[in-house]
Amino acid sequence: MDAIEIEGGARLTGTVEVSPAKNAVLPLMAAALLAPGRSRLRRVPRLSDVRTLARLLEHLGAGVEFGDGGLWVDAARVPGREAPYELVKTMRASVLVLGPLVARFGRARVSLPGGCAIGARPIDMHLKGLEAMGARVVLEHGYVEVTARRLRGARIVLDLPTVTGTENLMMAAALAEGRTVIENAAREPEVEDLARCLNAMGGRVRGAGSSVIEIDGVGELGPMDHLPVPDRIEAGTFLVAGALCGGEVTVRGARADHLDALVAKLKQAGARVDPVKDGLRVRGDGRARSVDVRTGPYPGFPTDMQAQFMALMAVGRGLSVITETVFENRFMHVPELNRMGADIRVEGGSAVVRGVRRLSGARVMATDLRASAALVLAGLVADGTTVVSRVYHLDRGYERLEEKLAGLGARIRRIRER
Ligand code: EPZ
Repeated sequence: MDAIEIEGGARLTGTVEVSPAKNAVLPLMAAALLAPGRSRLRRVPRLSDVRTLARLLEHLGAGVEFGDGGLWVDAARVPGREAPYELVKTMRASVLVLGPLVARFGRARVSLPGGCAIGARPIDMHLKGLEAMGARVVLEHGYVEVTARRLRGARIVLDLPTVTGTENLMMAAALAEGRTVIENAAREPEVEDLARCLNAMGGRVRGAGSSVIEIDGVGELGPMDHLPVPDRIEAGTFLVAGALCGGEVTVRGARADHLDALVAKLKQAGARVDPVKDGLRVRGDGRARSVDVRTGPYPGFPTDMQAQFMALMAVGRGLSVITETVFENRFMHVPELNRMGADIRVEGGSAVVRGVRRLSGARVMATDLRASAALVLAGLVADGTTVVSRVYHLDRGYERLEEKLAGLGARIRRIRER
């Protein structure tokens, strides 16, 4: 298994390029199932989650090809209807094939995604929405079977703004009979990007990016040719790295308008963050001021940036209370950060972070995607050597993170552990 070894203490300077967003590419790959034709997604990052979903699309009978830095999905014929446990258990975003399969073919059988490290993460709202559109939903043997002769438009009010739930229902509604209105919809940029792509395919989606999305179903959609939005979480991770290590980092491709909540917190913590021609530049100068953070649905502070920001607060000047409101168990990076000398105490849904002057390098273990990013960031400023094991978590959502950080001056490399 690979690990990442870091010698702490280097300042970071230079420019780093952001890849297109993992959380945009995954729903867009699923949306390709809606169109009988050959769809193209450009500049797709080489991530294990992308490869996993590609395997699922092939399992369903679609053709998937990587090339020219992007990928093609040929969904002219998609004989399969089942997303098997072996694939879904490794990546819950596999449930995104549900909406497209039912909308285009009238049936889907998808393994219920078990819980994952960060929480139970049920899909009840996905299923209630499909039922509202006339689908029959049967749960048995750990699978959900959804059937519908033809979905019909409905008014759906989500209990909370679920991101993939909004995306699944938007894709289902795109081919339904009549109008669907999704209220309390997720407002993430990736939802907006999917809507933009569906419209380019011949769909009729309005209001994406707001909490009320209207979709008028059409008879058929054509294939896409789409460049996904930049990854705001990868960009945010580099902004935190620059604030943490000192120096000056330009994050090329970052969309400032997708990062308002994070940038506001970084500025409160004393970092200088400025928009530049095609991205954002961050300058850190020594220890951050401790600030409180509360995660929430977009445009609130992203839960996917909570662990990375905690690494910054771990060496902050003072006390920071970080409250996680989206997932019920997203503090697994805390015991690992404490092994590096951090002083963090979890109390219910909040972590109380007392900043320390220095962290010390240690062997630590990644537990989930963003926790592993936080441990890499902590290693960049810790005294001595840090080895982060189980970096397969990291590779799910970051393309060559250690190479991109090394390009900024970090002393970091991938090693193979026995
Ligand atoms: C998406 O997950 C992202 N993944 C996650 O990114 C991100 O953390 C999350 O949104 C929140 O922003 C992708 O887009 C592929 P939710 P998703 O449905 O859609 C509860 C990363 O690190 N819920 O918005 O699964 C759920 O349990 C990953 O890149 C229900 O109760 O998140 C959670 O507590 C991690 N019932 C909350 O809603 C449902 O039917 C938000 O979940 C659906 C969700």
